[in-house]
Amino acid sequence: MKDRPIGVFDSGVGGLTCAKELLRLVPGENIIYLGDTARMPYGVNTKETLARYTNDDVEFLQRKGVKLVVAACGTVSSNVPAAQIKNLSVPFIDVITPTISAAVKATKNKRIGIIGTPATIKSGSFASRLKMFDKDIQTVSNGCPQLVTLVQEGYIDEDNFILNSVCKEYLAPIKAFGVDTLILGCTHFPIISKVIQNIMGNDVTLIDSGYETALEVKKILEMLKLERTQPRDRVEYYVTSQPEEFDRVANIFLGDGSDAKAILTDIKD
Ligand code: DGL
Repeated sequence: MKDRPIGVFDSGVGGLTCAKELLRLVPGENIIYLGDTARMPYGVNTKETLARYTNDDVEFLQRKGVKLVVAACGTVSSNVPAAQIKNLSVPFIDVITPTISAAVKATKNKRIGIIGTPATIKSGSFASRLKMFDKDIQTVSNGCPQLVTLVQEGYIDEDNFILNSVCKEYLAPIKAFGVDTLILGCTHFPIISKVIQNIMGNDVTLIDSGYETALEVKKILEMLKLERTQPRDRVEYYVTSQPEEFDRVANIFLGDGSDAKAILTDIKD
């Protein structure tokens, strides 16, 4: 069991914010990554559709023999509980709990902003869980669908005019609320965290859902005694369309001379 890979999925490049940290934090672990690029963006879909996509993604990863599945996607984590996944036979980790814990630790003025996809914000997943932690926390949120498309299409440069304009528009109500902490509740957003930080200012702490989830995976592997001890020998990236587009953004984001080459799959293979 220990030798099996970890499965990570998202609609596209967003889950790489988690995978990048896993590559660093758990150096013995092999990783199978799935980006369901043919059906992205996920964040504009109903819960029923998201449950169907999630079942396909998890089934694909389980067929690859993974020992644990990470839903490195705020939209899936917010809308599809593990109980709705058929034949789930391995631990399933989502981004909500680790992200919430980090935000609660970071805030001093108890004003927390949340940005995510429309489906994530509509679900109220982050806001309601924050309140459960501490009823005095006040939240403000905004759904930012255009950001997913911009990131996915490679508009990730810190100085990009379009990216900066769209971010300013989405972040204006969050800034006006006087938050000291901002949850990047969509895993695509940490890829453009510099732009978001520049707009919000350095006094605001950004919480990266991908990073926090990778820390959680490390903890859970230790807890379940599932850590692989040999050096890593396999990282595979699968996408359901446009592998070249994925590779371009992936290799800029992963950095360090990374040479990700995604394999095209239709999931049902
Ligand atoms: N990265 C995903 C999320 O965290 C999905 C974005 C999308 O496809 O809409 O929500």
